[in-house]
Amino acid sequence: MDLIELKIEKSIFGGLGLSHYKGMAVLVEGAVTGDIIKAEIIKKNKNYLSAKIKEIIVPSNKRTKPFCPLYGACGGCGMQFVEYDFLIKEKENILFEIFSSFSELKIKPFVKSPKTLNYRCKTQYPVTQTKNSKRLLIGYYKKNSHDITNIKFCPVQPSVIDEITEFIRNNWNLGAYIEKTHKGLLRHINTRISTNDNSILLTFVLNADEKEYKKIKNEITDFSNLLMNNFPLVKGVFVNLNNEKTNKITGEKTVLIKGEKYIIQNLKSYSYKMGPLSFFQINPYLAEILFEKAKNLISKKGSLLDLYGGVGAIGIFMNDVADKITLVEENSEAVSFAYENYKLNNIKNHEIYEGKAENIINNFIKEKRYFENIIIDPPRKGSDNRTLECISKMTNSIIYISCNPMTLKRDAGFLIEKGFKFKTLEGFDMFPYTHHIECLAHFERENG
Ligand SMILES: C[S@@+](CC[C@H](N)C(=O)[O-])C[C@H]1O[C@@H](n2cnc3c(N)ncnc32)[C@H](O)[C@@H]1O
Repeated sequence: MDLIELKIEKSIFGGLGLSHYKGMAVLVEGAVTGDIIKAEIIKKNKNYLSAKIKEIIVPSNKRTKPFCPLYGACGGCGMQFVEYDFLIKEKENILFEIFSSFSELKIKPFVKSPKTLNYRCKTQYPVTQTKNSKRLLIGYYKKNSHDITNIKFCPVQPSVIDEITEFIRNNWNLGAYIEKTHKGLLRHINTRISTNDNSILLTFVLNADEKEYKKIKNEITDFSNLLMNNFPLVKGVFVNLNNEKTNKITGEKTVLIKGEKYIIQNLKSYSYKMGPLSFFQINPYLAEILFEKAKNLISKKGSLLDLYGGVGAIGIFMNDVADKITLVEENSEAVSFAYENYKLNNIKNHEIYEGKAENIINNFIKEKRYFENIIIDPPRKGSDNRTLECISKMTNSIIYISCNPMTLKRDAGFLIEKGFKFKTLEGFDMFPYTHHIECLAHFERENG
């Protein structure tokens, strides 16, 4: 196919560079504002073309050398080729553009991460083994594939995680999962680390049912003992059973093999018990700033609904601007830690509802409940109209934390239809050197 010459005009959401060719938008992966490139059109979509860089004729002056030796081989941190400060500017511009139709909205300056290296407190590595030598490969998938890059060093997580991974690579002899045949035992290794003291929880995700697990339980326990003797920072080892043919990392059943069932993470003066699998903000350094700013949005102290509340992190952080906290969360591990976290932080006036937000909130409507402030922090797909409709009837102030600006935009449109004003929006770099953007938004009812 013929190559075309393009100048990248700006970045758009998803880590893509935008250019135009014969009046048609062209999106190029791995390109940044200012690049002049030769590119090949790889796909003709209805309204735009997708292209691949074949040659960089003149590199943008915002390009920099990626700091990770595995950059390009591993599917993580895809934006390392862009200078950090410029990337922040680009993310800020992207937010301005996505939300440009909300004319009265005030978008605040984008907030950088206090740490861009060693910031991740959670890792989920897929595992497999080589065909002949049965050597373990542990690391992230290569981009757009399920081939595993064997990661010996990952600069965005604490180095002890690399050491533990290497230990498992060299000492695990119970076999690893082959996705193609759906055979083999070890399919994922999940680690969670606290920035307080580097204490760690580790989970082996196994391709086994309970009966199969029983047969190897002693060997797994021996291995866990060995691991914990070598790494005293590992405070608890778990097994999760997942024998489904699925992209879902974990299955329903998790058992503690040895040690503690939680570690503690502090955010400012609050302490949180985290289990091996329940959600906790991946970048605690940035989370402290995000939560503080969310708290500052509250102008009227009163009852607070913490919807999609996880282990209670945000609600508890808001305790001094709430006279009662109500948490709603569907994950039972998270809910049990939420109970413990309220206790740990000496918060007495709270209630917890376990279940789907959309169902529980429906009952709240029947009970005519009202909350001074509602904070929602849904997963990437955002909230849903039923839930949003209900919360719009129960408060005049909604604080929305989102890890996906596109679903936030959709949900913002819905809340505006329901009579709310989109007051402020602020972007945060929760995941440095990736294209991801975390958002904090505030909606208030007009004349509320
Ligand atoms: C982005 S996390 C936020 C957790 C918490 N706010 C925090 O900051 O730690 C989203 C949470 O929503 C929960 N969740 C997802 N879908 C849900 C639903 N339909 N109803 C209730 N909780 C849900 C997940 O289990 C997860 O804990």
